[in-house]
Amino acid sequence: MNICLIGAGYVGLVSAVCFAEMGHNVICVDKDEHKISLLNQGIVPIYEPGLLELMNINVEAGRLYFTENISEAIKESLFIFIAVGTPQDEDGSADLRHVLSVAEIIGREINSFKIIVNKSTVPVGTAKNVKNIIISEIQKRRIDNIDFDIVSNPEFLKEGDAINDFMRPDRIIIGVERKDSEELMKELYFHFVKNGNPIIFMDIKSAELTKYASNAMLATRISFMNELSSLCDIIGADIEKIRIGIGTDKRIGMSFLYSGLGYGGSCFPKDVQALSKTMKDFHLNPNLLNAVESINKEQRIRFLKKIITRFENNIVGKTFTVWGLSFKPKTDDIRESPAAHLINMLTDAGAHVNVSDPEALKYSNLCLRNLESISLFKDKYLSLKDSEALVIATEWSQYRNPDFELMKLNMKRNIIFDGRNQFEPEKMTQLGWEYHCIGRSN
Ligand code: UGA
Repeated sequence: MNICLIGAGYVGLVSAVCFAEMGHNVICVDKDEHKISLLNQGIVPIYEPGLLELMNINVEAGRLYFTENISEAIKESLFIFIAVGTPQDEDGSADLRHVLSVAEIIGREINSFKIIVNKSTVPVGTAKNVKNIIISEIQKRRIDNIDFDIVSNPEFLKEGDAINDFMRPDRIIIGVERKDSEELMKELYFHFVKNGNPIIFMDIKSAELTKYASNAMLATRISFMNELSSLCDIIGADIEKIRIGIGTDKRIGMSFLYSGLGYGGSCFPKDVQALSKTMKDFHLNPNLLNAVESINKEQRIRFLKKIITRFENNIVGKTFTVWGLSFKPKTDDIRESPAAHLINMLTDAGAHVNVSDPEALKYSNLCLRNLESISLFKDKYLSLKDSEALVIATEWSQYRNPDFELMKLNMKRNIIFDGRNQFEPEKMTQLGWEYHCIGRSN
């Protein structure tokens, strides 16, 4: 089947590559000339395990190509996926500028029956707006025999595991009104659900809301655990034991219950706020979502206070090492990274920070301030030089089994603040470390 993906960002690019891998003919379009030129040279502008290899295989096989020519891409495809960014607007709502401008272009270029599939994360009602814009553009062309349909197909892939999430999804959500479009969408995704996982069809509004509900639910679980972790810290209970204790209840399940520095990234913070804004627009009070967001922000402040308190409320001129800059492991994405927020708060308080990260250091200028108080190190051991304490901010696998004795050689004191609960407190004490983590008795 001929597919065009508009937007070669995370979602667009991964979807394009995976659809091609399943045998479809895919054109991936972006208006960013530089990005298209990189992709055409076989360079992936983001760090995502496995993406580069799979992309090149499919380009070579002739199933995937990249272009800036949106007009050609629209004309040659039956399915047109909108996968452009919906960044946060000043008031917390999703900024739909890119989505709506793509709708206008589709209306100007559409030449035969198309299924226009929205994959961008958009508030309820956007499909209807997109439809109206396309209709109005077609009317301007004074033609009336072009049929099209709008479908909502939110994406649930996670950065770092994007290929696996797309190729073997837990479920595929499709909001659709017409039966013929439902059948075509079923055919399009046939190979992705051979593992028996369902394609769930529903009305368009519910599909649009399912995306926000899913991210907000996951963020809520994280904030719930983080809120409990403060109580654990005070009463001496262990949040890790509690995680296992509740997660083994099948009704609760194990995932997204890790307490830490809070959630970050380009999705949870933005989507929690956008859903909250939608509720306010309908005169509802988003009490729970507000709490989820404020707990998330408080969590890193609480952690910072732990560090500052340990140093008698004065970290001015002291050097700390932070391992991790990306918002989570296996990505170089620094958007809303809890690690970056923490580093900024440390330098604001007068500390010097040595930062190490396997992939994200190249973006330090974009997310860190007080750059004169920052030193960057590719090597995690070298980054410990003259450090009062190590702070673990992102749980890269490279940090799981460090040589603790080698670490001591470089540091001023044997202190670790672990914002991702990577080690057993008792074992760390035995190894001669002063170990502070989150919600665990120490
Ligand atoms: C998230 C969702 O998991 C995807 O399903 C969704 O498609 C995507 O947003 C999106 O809307 O595009 P992603 O932002 O890539 O994916 O990252 P996650 O793995 O969900 O992690 C988000 C944040 O939560 C990270 O900062 C992570 O460290 C944190 N987290 C995650 C915790 O603090 N505790 C946990 O137990 C799990």
